[in-house]
Amino acid sequence: PDAGSPDAGAPAAAPCPMPPLFDWEFAADPYPAYAWLREHAPVRRTELPSGVEAWLVTRYADARQALADQRLSKNPGHHSERSAHGKGKVGIPGERSANLMTHLLNIDPPDHTRLRRLVSKAFTPARAAEFEPRVRELTDQLIDGFAARGEADLIHEFAFPLPIYAICDMLGVPAEDQDDFRDWAGMMLRHHKPGQPGPPRGGVGRAVKKMRNYLAELIHRKREKPGDDLISGLTRASDHGEQLTENEAAAMAFILLFAGFETTVNLIGNGTYALLRNPGQRAELTRAVEGGDDAALATAVEELLRYDGPVEMATWRFATEPLEIGGERIGEGDPVLVVLAAADRDPAKFDRPDVLDLGRRDNQHLGYGHGIHYCLGAPLARLEGRVALESLLRRLPDVRLAADPSELRWRGGLIMRGLRQLPVQFGAV
Ligand code: HEM
Repeated sequence: PDAGSPDAGAPAAAPCPMPPLFDWEFAADPYPAYAWLREHAPVRRTELPSGVEAWLVTRYADARQALADQRLSKNPGHHSERSAHGKGKVGIPGERSANLMTHLLNIDPPDHTRLRRLVSKAFTPARAAEFEPRVRELTDQLIDGFAARGEADLIHEFAFPLPIYAICDMLGVPAEDQDDFRDWAGMMLRHHKPGQPGPPRGGVGRAVKKMRNYLAELIHRKREKPGDDLISGLTRASDHGEQLTENEAAAMAFILLFAGFETTVNLIGNGTYALLRNPGQRAELTRAVEGGDDAALATAVEELLRYDGPVEMATWRFATEPLEIGGERIGEGDPVLVVLAAADRDPAKFDRPDVLDLGRRDNQHLGYGHGIHYCLGAPLARLEGRVALESLLRRLPDVRLAADPSELRWRGGLIMRGLRQLPVQFGAV
């Protein structure tokens, strides 16, 4: 302040301290802490709960740039020990031992380009669109399972099973084996029936191993006797005579399952929760659904992704050389986490970012990432989100939250964020 201003001579105001990250309250509502980071330390080196130190990137412009910066490698081999303090781990639990590392989210060009081109031949937007009737059928069956009861846990009975059955169907996992997948996926998410104990120690690693072995065998069988499913498509897909090896196909099937499962659980869970907490907007959307306005529904799903998206941070990136992000010097080998949830609430990009606006136009959120690793499953995710929310609003028009928001527990892993349970009530139908 200049000499004449009323503040002259007053001690400089102490900057308000950084709110704690990664504790209980943070999982329930990380947005105030992200607002603080965006404003005071938009690129911040931070110790994660695992002990690893990583740079958190929270502003939209920096985040978008970092996601497309090829000097940031996806290969964990670039992780420098100096950042790790020994005990921290990056990646999917149980994955190292399972030899499933060569998947899209862990590799760079030219391997990434080759594998992505091959999988894109089998997993096309058209294939996702063809799947709509099956997703509708699954959705209706799940709602039938609890509609007469007048109450349900929408995570356990709806958001959790829908994507796992949908992806199993799409991959070509026979119906009789899909409950095994549901159990393994439950282990991997440490998801369990409310009131029952969680998975035993080592259960996650064992579940990944079982899934890996099952997929390897299924791929072998589909190579011998192909069908009209995605795994057969993966084994057939070729580019200039090149084909996926069996190990690459197994890693690809695994990442499709892994990347397409918890994300969609959280899209349905977080999305429904946001609708339940914004009754005016939800009533408008219900009217649009009743009027068959598919465009309004699609626009709403994009806003739910922006407002409280399933993927809190994009997956790991590592600096292959010293570089700058938002004016901070990132050292070679340093891990960088792009905080999509913070970027998507940046007031420099979005008008009234903390307000849910289901009709928001020009919504360039980063919920599906950006650049060469942009979500391969976005067409399927959009379809599942649209059908799930439409069916809920249509079939349970008076659905309401049956718990105080403060009682709800969040699954706050580093990369994903979603509810553990979502108890609701409705007029039984
Ligand atoms: C990549 C989000 C559903 C398959 C990504 C990335 C994000 C994302 C943010 C980029 C990660 C990064 O750059 O580090 C989401 C969200 C979903 C969803 C929010 C649901 C609402 C799905 C589904 C599938 C899928 C249903 C497949 C069945 C993939 C794959 C990649 C990916 C294979 C890696 C692409 C690459 O590295 O080239 N997803 N995803 N996702 N997603 Fe999704």
